[in-house]
Amino acid sequence: MEKTLINLTINNIPVSVQKGSTILDAAHKINMHIPTLCYHPDLKVAGNCRVCVVEVAGTKELITACSTAVTEGMIVTTNSYKVRTARKTIVELLLSEHNADCTKCYRNGNCELQWLASEYRIGDHVYHDLVKEEEKQPDSTSLCIIKDDSKCVRCQRCVRTCSDLQDVGTFSVINKGKKQKVSTFYGKPLKDVFCIDCGQCTSRCPTAALTEKPLYEEVWDALADTGKHVVIATTPAVRVAIGEELGFEYNKHSDSKIIAALRLLGFDSVVDSGYFHDIYIVELCTEFMLKMKQDNENAAKTILPYITSCSPGWVEFVSTKCPEIKPLLSQCKSPRLIFGSLIKTYYADKKALNPKDIITVSVTPCTAAKNESTQSMTGIADVDFSITTRELVRMIRQSGIDIQRLDAEDYEPLMCEHSGASVLTEVSGGTTEAVIRTLSELVTGNELDPKMLKIMPLRSEHGIKETVLTFSEVRTGWEFLKDQEIRFAAVNGSRHAMDFFKQLKENQKHYHFAEVMICQGGCIGGGGQPIPVSAELIKARASILYSLDEICGQQKAHENARLNAIYREFLTKTELKENQKILYY
Ligand code: SF4
Ligand code: SF4
Ligand code: FES
Repeated sequence: MEKTLINLTINNIPVSVQKGSTILDAAHKINMHIPTLCYHPDLKVAGNCRVCVVEVAGTKELITACSTAVTEGMIVTTNSYKVRTARKTIVELLLSEHNADCTKCYRNGNCELQWLASEYRIGDHVYHDLVKEEEKQPDSTSLCIIKDDSKCVRCQRCVRTCSDLQDVGTFSVINKGKKQKVSTFYGKPLKDVFCIDCGQCTSRCPTAALTEKPLYEEVWDALADTGKHVVIATTPAVRVAIGEELGFEYNKHSDSKIIAALRLLGFDSVVDSGYFHDIYIVELCTEFMLKMKQDNENAAKTILPYITSCSPGWVEFVSTKCPEIKPLLSQCKSPRLIFGSLIKTYYADKKALNPKDIITVSVTPCTAAKNESTQSMTGIADVDFSITTRELVRMIRQSGIDIQRLDAEDYEPLMCEHSGASVLTEVSGGTTEAVIRTLSELVTGNELDPKMLKIMPLRSEHGIKETVLTFSEVRTGWEFLKDQEIRFAAVNGSRHAMDFFKQLKENQKHYHFAEVMICQGGCIGGGGQPIPVSAELIKARASILYSLDEICGQQKAHENARLNAIYREFLTKTELKENQKILYY
């Protein structure tokens, strides 16, 4: 039988790891730190920076720990004089090609190059600074992402992220040696190349070479303007991740303490984003049911699948890669835009405020939402500022607030309630689960079988997840659905979006409903979430959201009592046309 465990020593400490593991894996197993730069746990190994070099007995040259497989009896030294000197030289060379204006840098304090410089006590630059003034101009043309080549260490994590994880391929490596750089197609500005603004590259770039386009300074300005009434909504995926950067674990008190922190920052009103997610689910379900009816009456069968459009990166993906399916996309606004439009109509009305004096701030894990928030349906933007989890963390840090010490506070009473279903919409497969809960009760008129509150195939990590629903009883008007299979798909990340599209195009699969989220794991894995990011962290965030759903007294969006109030008092009374503008594109 083949031996699967390999035994070696690292700094004289014995360790056994599976065959095929790298020296870096073995070091991780015994908590031995080996510095890295081009390595990232989510990406294929590149082995190009050489920061992780170690000494192996019997080998003259230093070898890279991230790309070298362990062998039986290997003797590894990670911290010899030779190793430390080599690493220091590598870091010095990197710094000579780097715009090291750390005090002004966006990633100051959370930069892997800065950490390496500190670890290896880099003083005055040994090598000439090679970055020319004209190279210090970042590309700020995109509404969501800033690319600053003067900060790039050519680790190529962004190239692997964008190609392998996202299947987009915005970047490639051009030139060799000192002239090597990460470039867009023909070096064009980011706004002119195919990029879905997902921000996944920004959360894996070790430096400030790729960052979100920050808007939090503008939010500070709005808060300082006494003539403005500033309303904020933070999504559950934001709240479960904030503590990762601020050093606390999410628990049942976290939300109410975060509300208190937001009030201390100066926000006039803090509303529950789950309330808008519930409206979104109800509208999504309504639009889907309408499409199923139309499809039933349409002999050509060209109306379905009904495809979600709340992931803004997905809408950009469709526009460029598969415009044929654009007509199938839902017309329902995203929960973020529903938040903005209802604050500037219903909320403004209730609070006797001029919508023009209201500023709406949406905090999401999504960098692409910055693009979406510029869309206006009424002349006034629905959402004035869309900021990421990372930007909110900066604001909290700047204000010096210790969230853990704050007393609990509640959301604005007008918009303060959410269902468990609303929380699920931020994890891949969750929007489909949420829709199924409401759809089942609307079509059958019966209470949902509690077993249907957890649809395990939709909670897997597969690329395209599927489930089928059949109703043996239906209400009048829905007879055409009796005993018919309704097929659902949830596409987990843009890497699988093209496969999904091919399946549709080649008629291999017939779905009625499809949820597509461009970031792996859903919004919880969004490109604006805290750095560092890893698949493990995304899984942990998902399990918190699943448990929040379970402990929520009401698990179906249409059961949200506050929702009934807004439909009764406002949405059903508003002219249909207006209503469409509020909730639909
Ligand atoms: S832009 Fe960032 S991730 Fe890409 S190569 Fe440069 S430093 Fe690495
Ligand atoms: S934002 Fe997303 S699509 Fe655009 S370059 Fe970065 S990883 Fe690629
Ligand atoms: S981290 Fe190993 S070569 Fe870059």
